[in-house]
Amino acid sequence: MKVMGVGNGAREHIIAKKLAESKYKPKVYWVGELRNPGIVKICKESGGEYEICKTTDSEKVVKHALKWGVDFVFVGPEEPNFYGVPDKCVKNGIPCIGASSKLAKIEMSKAELRRLQWKYDLKGKLLFKTFQTAEEASKYLEKYSETLTWLQNVALKPARQAGGKGVKVVDDRHIYLHDEKDRFKKQHASWLEGYMKSYSGIEDKILIEEKVWGPEYTLQCFTDGKVVKGMPLVQDNKNAHEFDIGTETGGMGSISGPGIILPFITQDEYDESLKIVDSIVKAIQNEVGERYCGIVAGQMMITEIEGPTIIEMYSRLGDPEALNVLSTLKTDLIDICYSIIDGKLSNMNIEFEDCVTVVKAIAPKGYPDFRDLAKNHPIIVDEEKIFNEGCEFYWGSADLRDDGSIITGGSRICEILCKSNRFEEASERIEKCIPYVKLGDGWGVFHRSDIGSSQLLARRMDVAERVRRLYHYRLEKGILGKRFDWLPGFGIVDPVAILKKSLWG
Ligand code: GLY
Repeated sequence: MKVMGVGNGAREHIIAKKLAESKYKPKVYWVGELRNPGIVKICKESGGEYEICKTTDSEKVVKHALKWGVDFVFVGPEEPNFYGVPDKCVKNGIPCIGASSKLAKIEMSKAELRRLQWKYDLKGKLLFKTFQTAEEASKYLEKYSETLTWLQNVALKPARQAGGKGVKVVDDRHIYLHDEKDRFKKQHASWLEGYMKSYSGIEDKILIEEKVWGPEYTLQCFTDGKVVKGMPLVQDNKNAHEFDIGTETGGMGSISGPGIILPFITQDEYDESLKIVDSIVKAIQNEVGERYCGIVAGQMMITEIEGPTIIEMYSRLGDPEALNVLSTLKTDLIDICYSIIDGKLSNMNIEFEDCVTVVKAIAPKGYPDFRDLAKNHPIIVDEEKIFNEGCEFYWGSADLRDDGSIITGGSRICEILCKSNRFEEASERIEKCIPYVKLGDGWGVFHRSDIGSSQLLARRMDVAERVRRLYHYRLEKGILGKRFDWLPGFGIVDPVAILKKSLWG
């Protein structure tokens, strides 16, 4: 058997490892934009090959798959989905684990996702408004932010998936800062308009969304378009620095377990979240008339207003979240892939080890805002010492050169994973490994020491408990998902009716 993967981060490293470990002993082939040293090694040892290729160039990716005669392709990151790599594979008779470009719109366009949720009246949605220009956004804010109170506390986002970049939350409770915050919203809308110029093929540029607050988690699922099977929940930590300080990154580390839930998310919330993700898969399939074949994930939050709520959707595994789930997956990944391809996922019993996992990413200084500074530094890693601490090592944004040296690619260098019975123990073991990853030219690296610590966990539990009390109250009163604005002189304003009117006249 021959399998081929696409992408070159730590998520793809663990996908390659799990494919190679299959009982089918496949030859593993890969295409990536950098030579990930871990994947290169897996390819070589399995008798396969690794080639550099622009992973959004569907022609080129499929050319490799045809040349190597692979049995199926597994797409790691989202951008190849957006650019139609799975579509092209299938057109050429190669099965693919990856959402087609039309289905992947649930991730690519944050506005399309929200419109879909409101059109089908699905649970877990938020109020939103989209704009093509900053001027439109500013005019709207000026006209309505006095009457629609949700516009005072908002998240301003690029309307496209942009790796977590460009999201700003403005909480306007302090009346004396109202003008400053208003100015800031308009300024950021302008910035977003400029930022979105680097993306083509999407009409909506600026997304303004109702601000919510609560514990976040990712529910990753396998789907064959007929059933959606959930994996254990994971919590990723997006901010660059300890205790959620600093710029948002692709993810600095994550935790999972014990079992399929998290200490701050209940089984009922898991079940509800799975129903929400399932409803989105059904709705998008209905919209585009295609079968969803691969991975789908809800990046979610427990909120006061809705309970489990979708913040974003992924058309792929998260990174680092993939490491938490795939490292504990007991079922053969190739069996799962074939059950997806054949539309027989409902027959699969997918099993995971019952333990906790902690993952920490190590990044070069400069990431994520100044990637040019973070690039081209020689990496020195003692993988054996990391292994001896009971941890697993996965290469991320790292480029293996012909002379055998490895240099940074500008993003997260690597991710270290530890499985245990206790978060604290797993976290401490990873901490012991941090000194084994260095840059040879003295350039600095950073990581988050708090991931998996009892302090951070206690904080998450506290937030979850407070939000849970509020949404349970709404549930009891039958007002979950309902928004009310009451304004002197106006009476009751229904922002949901206003949103629906703006969507469908
Ligand atoms: N960890 C966030 C993402 O995969 O986008």
